Amino acid sequence: MRIFSGIQPTGVLHLGNYFGAIKQWVELQEGNECIYCIVDYHALTNESMVPEEMRRAKESLALDLLACGIDPEKSILFVQSDVPQHTELCWILGCVTSYGDLTRMTQFKQKAKEQEFVNAGLFYYPVLQAADILLYLADHVPVGEDQLQHLELSRRIARRFNYRFGELFPEPQPILSKGARIMSLADPSRKMSKSYGPDHYIGLMEDEKSIYKKIRSAVTDMGLQPGQEMSPGVANLFLLLELVAPAEVVEDFREKHKAGKLLYKDLKETLYRYLMEYLAPIRERRRELEEKGEIREILAAGAERARRIAWEVIREVRERVGLS
Ligand code: TYM
Repeated sequence: MRIFSGIQPTGVLHLGNYFGAIKQWVELQEGNECIYCIVDYHALTNESMVPEEMRRAKESLALDLLACGIDPEKSILFVQSDVPQHTELCWILGCVTSYGDLTRMTQFKQKAKEQEFVNAGLFYYPVLQAADILLYLADHVPVGEDQLQHLELSRRIARRFNYRFGELFPEPQPILSKGARIMSLADPSRKMSKSYGPDHYIGLMEDEKSIYKKIRSAVTDMGLQPGQEMSPGVANLFLLLELVAPAEVVEDFREKHKAGKLLYKDLKETLYRYLMEYLAPIRERRRELEEKGEIREILAAGAERARRIAWEVIREVRERVGLS
């Protein structure tokens, strides 16, 4: 399979990003051709992004990704704006994208509701995402659940291009993991995300005390009532526990919960312990990589490899549509 996926350099890599996407990125490196992109053009749609912070965030995110296990020998890791063909293909694909489809994107509608100044980049965002994927003729895209609508649109765009200009792009399929939808601990009705503020996410490299505090104050409920389902906050804690602890430990907690004997304090303490154990090697590697200071060279080499593929595809696209 040819795998492509992207992530925005918005400052902090959190557990939602990791369990929803990055963990799969790492696993898929075995036996597939993987291309992973730090999408800085997309991040520009964020009104509060400061130029200095953007420069810092890109390198920091690249280090985080390597620490998680992305191996630049196996995968292509690069920054989107180092490959200008992304924006060229974005424009061309925009011309086979339905305006109506873009108005129906829920992420756009949500963001447009939340801010006063709505830039056109936000509206065009999903076309650029389609261009990212199709530029490498990728057929599979590991993402969290919040990206499914954008992927559906990428398939529609691919189909429409192929119909008008002849079969070229595969219709990219999502790969979802068990952690495809990690919720905020402070408000489990929303996904874990940086945009709601620091209480709503846990960073992989965050200070231990701060992580402890966030887990201890996670929203739960008054205990399982007969005939009721687990509340979203408790379900989210169980999901996180499943992702970091051995199956027997999870099973034991589930039994206690069913029997009405579970103290949420114990669940939280245990989750904290296993999570820190899980994150320890990643955090350690992150420190080592930072000291090595090779990140710029790694990204430059990644961009070089990405450009080679992108150039071939864009040449073909230009010919198909009559630009050359
Ligand atoms: P971004 O940067 O918001 O998130 C990166 C990845 O993390 C996943 N994710 C989550 N998964 C589970 N639970 C959560 N709470 C959670 N929060 C984030 C996202 O689904 C994503 O997989 N538009 C994309 C970036 C992008 C892209 C692409 C992705 C640009 N071009 C091409 C795939 C292919 C985004 O904003 O992701």
